[in-house]
Amino acid sequence: MLGKFITIEGGEGAGKSTMLELVADWLKQAGHQVVRTREPGGTELAESLRDILLDKDNVGLSSLTELLLMFAARAQHLAELIRPSLAGGKTVLCDRFTDATWAYQGGGRQLPREEIAALETLVHGDLQPDLTLLLDLPVEQGMRRASNRGESDRFERESLVFFTRVREAYLERALAAPERFAVIDASKEVEEVWSQIERVLQTRVGS
Ligand SMILES: Nc1ncnc2c1ncn2[C@@H]1O[C@H](COP(=O)(O)OP(=O)(O)OP(=O)(O)O)[C@@H](O)[C@H]1O
Ligand SMILES: [Mg+2]
Repeated sequence: MLGKFITIEGGEGAGKSTMLELVADWLKQAGHQVVRTREPGGTELAESLRDILLDKDNVGLSSLTELLLMFAARAQHLAELIRPSLAGGKTVLCDRFTDATWAYQGGGRQLPREEIAALETLVHGDLQPDLTLLLDLPVEQGMRRASNRGESDRFERESLVFFTRVREAYLERALAAPERFAVIDASKEVEEVWSQIERVLQTRVGS
């Protein structure tokens, strides 16, 4: 039987990495064999593409190049890790996936929907996450959380306007696919965010 594919999405500092740990522990307790991974990245080659994408010195990277590199990294990640893991019955838990492309390259960079849709179909038209946890919070609050860490990457240097479009695009995606998404109020304390997620896992995943 094919394993479950679960993704965690949200803007900068939404708490994705924090919650991913807790979700992984919960899934293991429930008897899942969990593969934790992230995008862009997840394989050696895709992590190299991630370095290019996040490098703040790559100021000349065009939006189209960015989009293509995101999907190139994703194609490799799917081929090398995601598809084989799911085929082996494992639960794949991924920090960001194609919804992030819709949010950042679509919402943020305002690239045409048709271009993103065409690449999505090409790269994984037959495969979508079973569950997507969208950590939603006001942009300023996320930026404050993220800024407590070291130097900012190429995306973190974007403007409030950019991240507002990212947030809106994420919420639009969630509205369009309510059966796949769970929108979590990530503005709350860690414990409270987690209890919302735990309820979702209990009703939508099980063991
Ligand atoms: N609910 C919360 N309330 C307050 N602080 C939080 C909460 N969740 C996470 N944090 C803190 O905010 C910061 C960002 O959290 P985290 O790294 O989990 O976010 P992220 O979504 O993975 O960010 P990025 O998009 O940059 O990877 C961390 O310092 C983390 O400890
Ligand atoms: Mg993170």
